[in-house]
Amino acid sequence: MNEPRSILITGASSGLGAALAVAYAAPALRLALTGRDAARLAATAEACRAAGATVEHALLDVTDAEAMAAWIGAVDDGGALDLVIANAGVSGGMVGGEDEGQTRHLFAVNVGGVLNTVLPLIPRMQARRRGRIALMSSLAAFRGLPGAPAYAASKAAVKAWGEGLSGRLRRDGVAVSVICPGFVATPMTALNPYPMPLIMAADRAAHLIKRRLARGRVRIVFPWPLYALVRLFAALPPGLTDPLFARLPEKPSLAERR
Ligand SMILES: NC(=O)c1ccc[n+]([C@@H]2O[C@H](COP(=O)([O-])OP(=O)(O)OC[C@H]3O[C@@H](n4cnc5c(N)ncnc54)[C@H](OP(=O)(O)O)[C@@H]3O)[C@@H](O)[C@H]2O)c1
Repeated sequence: MNEPRSILITGASSGLGAALAVAYAAPALRLALTGRDAARLAATAEACRAAGATVEHALLDVTDAEAMAAWIGAVDDGGALDLVIANAGVSGGMVGGEDEGQTRHLFAVNVGGVLNTVLPLIPRMQARRRGRIALMSSLAAFRGLPGAPAYAASKAAVKAWGEGLSGRLRRDGVAVSVICPGFVATPMTALNPYPMPLIMAADRAAHLIKRRLARGRVRIVFPWPLYALVRLFAALPPGLTDPLFARLPEKPSLAERR
């Protein structure tokens, strides 16, 4: 299991998902990649093929449960998946803010999309008593964030679900990891108007995640100084820390970026 030979990654058309695909790409490795942007997804697939991997890719919206189940089932029928990385996600800054519609969309992608990726595979992995499920959460999962309430809550849901699943599926031979990165340099963070301490390049983050998945870590958290700070803020009463968070500028919406 430490050396997966067949991997499915969502959100592989950009940022961390693309970097993870390239980090794993190697001869004799089978990659199934998905995203929505045809040109960017094809570019990731091409880079992985150039590294020797066998790649299949599909344009899918992770909120489409039926289409996701059909594609994932077909990929798994073609060769048992060892590792699935449910990575696709959006932040308020990517969808234009966090009003009612955007809040619902954010949960649909960040929580519903993760369910649509993982649920079709759980019974299959249980039946063969092997496989690893990796869920992309965030350091934002550890405390409600006034600048991004829906984003932080969606990542908290993914983290709690993944940690619970880890304990439950272990007895069936299926491993679950929850990935909680700090700031990573991707299109999602490109225009953040606030300081992003210890921001990491996407390829470096991808290699770190790959190494820790190979070690079988359940919770993959980095960078540790930011993790320590987040844990400290989470432990303090919100009445004390909310005024500090309120001073941070919010993520700009797409409209504000144009
Ligand atoms: N960057 C950070 O600092 C950071 C930190 C912690 C956690 N994360 C998490 O890491 C993951 C990847 O983020 P990123 O920074 O790499 O952002 P990104 O560059 O914006 O990539 C997001 C990916 O998700 C895909 N996606 C979005 N909505 C989708 C939908 N409805 N259906 C299918 N695919 C969809 C995008 O596909 P298209 O572009 O093709 O639409 C893209 O491939 C996210 O879950 C994010 O929350 C990021």
